[in-house]
Amino acid sequence: MSGTTAVSTFAADVARDLALSPRQLQSKYLYDRLGSRLFEAICRLPWYTITRAELGLLFRHAAEVAAELPDPLTLTELGPGDGEKIALLAAALVRDRSALATHLIDISQSALDQTERRLGRYEGVSVVGHRASYEEGLRRVAKGRNGDGGLLVLFLGSNLGNFDRSAAGEFLRAIRDTLRPGDALLLGADLVKPEPDLILAYDDPLGVTAAFNKNVLLRINRELGGDFDLSAFAHRAVFDPAESRVEMRLVSLRRQRVRIGACATTVDFEEGDFIWTESSYKYGAPALRRLVEGAGFACRRQWLDPEAQFALTLFFAA
Ligand SMILES: C[S@@+](CC[C@H](N)C(=O)[O-])C[C@H]1O[C@@H](n2cnc3c(N)ncnc32)[C@H](O)[C@@H]1O
Repeated sequence: MSGTTAVSTFAADVARDLALSPRQLQSKYLYDRLGSRLFEAICRLPWYTITRAELGLLFRHAAEVAAELPDPLTLTELGPGDGEKIALLAAALVRDRSALATHLIDISQSALDQTERRLGRYEGVSVVGHRASYEEGLRRVAKGRNGDGGLLVLFLGSNLGNFDRSAAGEFLRAIRDTLRPGDALLLGADLVKPEPDLILAYDDPLGVTAAFNKNVLLRINRELGGDFDLSAFAHRAVFDPAESRVEMRLVSLRRQRVRIGACATTVDFEEGDFIWTESSYKYGAPALRRLVEGAGFACRRQWLDPEAQFALTLFFAA
């Protein structure tokens, strides 16, 4: 996507989503260069257990994952972030293989750059970066396949939780449609846990998650000519038990009007009105397996971190 197309798509999405009730912004727009760095800082916070739990499971079970998979193998990750997890897995996979091809799919250029640098340190690992949405990137990877090798798709960090339930099922089916029988999906997902723990994970006392969330307004100001006053919005994390999801919101602290030049629009806020910027759905382990199996996969192994309540599950395309 050219820079101009990316900006016009961003402007069209922002104009449409801020006209919804409640107002929304798509969570993928949280990840510009600064947003990616702030997310890395979140991963290191004591209250955000997802990253440490998943890295621990990968560290303990990477050899078992590697033993289940064919050779030759292509490894692709949807949204690798800083690349720490794919690097851990690539090291285990390349140990018993002469070569490993990897494809990275991320809308953040800085995430791609960082992961490429990390994987570049491993002998026998080749890397192709795709700056694209998950769907577009997967299409490119599927189209570029040749030969008989297998494909392993990584979808880690509980990114599946950003989709609402029906969209999660549709997205998993879209992944399945790009795979061949015998290809695999390694899914990392955060599980339901007590509400106070969830709120601390998404509204930390250091304010890093607040900065990450508000950065989307800064980005709209810079890239779309907006005039959001960042001090007039507050970050909030709210748990909806009926939906089993944490919502990140930006709440207007006063009545105000915001102009966004590239959208040719103004948005009026009353005090207390909010913009919904991200959902994080939490699953039970059996429900998660059913969701993925319903999209045409068979569960091969599931590893749990009982303390952090996190699941790493290996599925094969049925
Ligand atoms: C929550 S971070 C997780 C990073 C990493 N997988 C981890 O587990 O720590 C999400 C990553 O996916 C990327 N991303 C988010 N939405 C995306 C989308 N719709 N298409 C492509 N990349 C996306 C972000 O840029 C970011 O690098």
